[in-house]
Amino acid sequence: MPRILTALQPSGILHIGNLFGAIEPMVKLQVDDNENLLFIVDYHAITVPQEPAELRRNILFATATYLAAGIDPEKTILFQQSRVSEHTELAWILNCLVHMGELERMTQYKDKARGKGESVSVGLFDYPVLMAADILLYDTNVVPVGEDQKQHVELARDLAERFNSRFGETFVVPQPQIRKEGARIMGLDDPEKKMSKSASSEKNYISLMDDEKAVLKKIKAAVTDSGSTISYEQTRPGLANLLTIYSLVTGKPTDQIVNEYEGEGYGDFKVGLAGAVSAYLAPIQEKINGYLQDEPKLLAILETGAARAQAIAAKKMELVRQKIGVKL
Ligand code: TYM
Repeated sequence: MPRILTALQPSGILHIGNLFGAIEPMVKLQVDDNENLLFIVDYHAITVPQEPAELRRNILFATATYLAAGIDPEKTILFQQSRVSEHTELAWILNCLVHMGELERMTQYKDKARGKGESVSVGLFDYPVLMAADILLYDTNVVPVGEDQKQHVELARDLAERFNSRFGETFVVPQPQIRKEGARIMGLDDPEKKMSKSASSEKNYISLMDDEKAVLKKIKAAVTDSGSTISYEQTRPGLANLLTIYSLVTGKPTDQIVNEYEGEGYGDFKVGLAGAVSAYLAPIQEKINGYLQDEPKLLAILETGAARAQAIAAKKMELVRQKIGVKL
């Protein structure tokens, strides 16, 4: 059975990029022939400072969000990374295989470390190795992610191959799966850069919890260009991004949306888009709020998920210890 795995950081904000890039593809891959794992990477989150009470809330919020988006804990092993200590154990072993230069080349690290000088945490630097451990521990075949995570999945592939050639066949070499539309939703205030929860302005992203008013305000303020017609062209990145979002929330192809707005300007288009986004988010928000009211249920789901994940991880770690020679 192909094993499909992805993970997201628990942050107070999950935005529509996270939903389209990773959560939705994972929901669609919940079919009988797959074995799926989805988890909350709380140990990745602490690579930057976190307030403990807030982190706890964010873990529960992330769990509620995945369930609201359609993750079925019967079909997908849903858990919290820190509950399965094999992740950090394998990360240590992979640390001893990875090269400094490989990590220095990671563009996400370069972006996040910029301006921090010597005070950047070692965890932030090492983050892709923990991610490689997350993936390799479960003999993952396919990793659905947004475009920005592709380089990290490639590192996981390299480390799997390196380990296998040094110690004998141990890990499955994973494939990233990046959807055609939606794998790189751009910032509303800067369509040259990806939508990001760590952006300096809230106008950059649409949070899954934004209400109708906030969605309308952000979309109205979204950067477009000096044109006046609605068309999908790479030379018009702001508009192309809005059309992509429109298509993702309605399920209509972009051509059809372009036709619907023939002869109309940005104003009507943006109001239409904001309405479509809010209509799409409303039922998800209602479900998130419902799940958040039942904390014991969320905890029970995470508990069961961790036990299922650990059963797989523990076996793999036994094999890894054997291969490297520490198992006596
Ligand atoms: P994170 O938490 O930054 O993002 C979660 C997922 O959302 C995708 N994403 C986007 N997709 C489309 N457009 C965007 N603007 C956008 N922004 C983010 C990301 O590509 C990602 O799929 N290191 C990972 C988490 C991780 C992981 C793993 C993923 C840890 N271990 C193992 C897969 C497998 C991260 O920080 O994602």
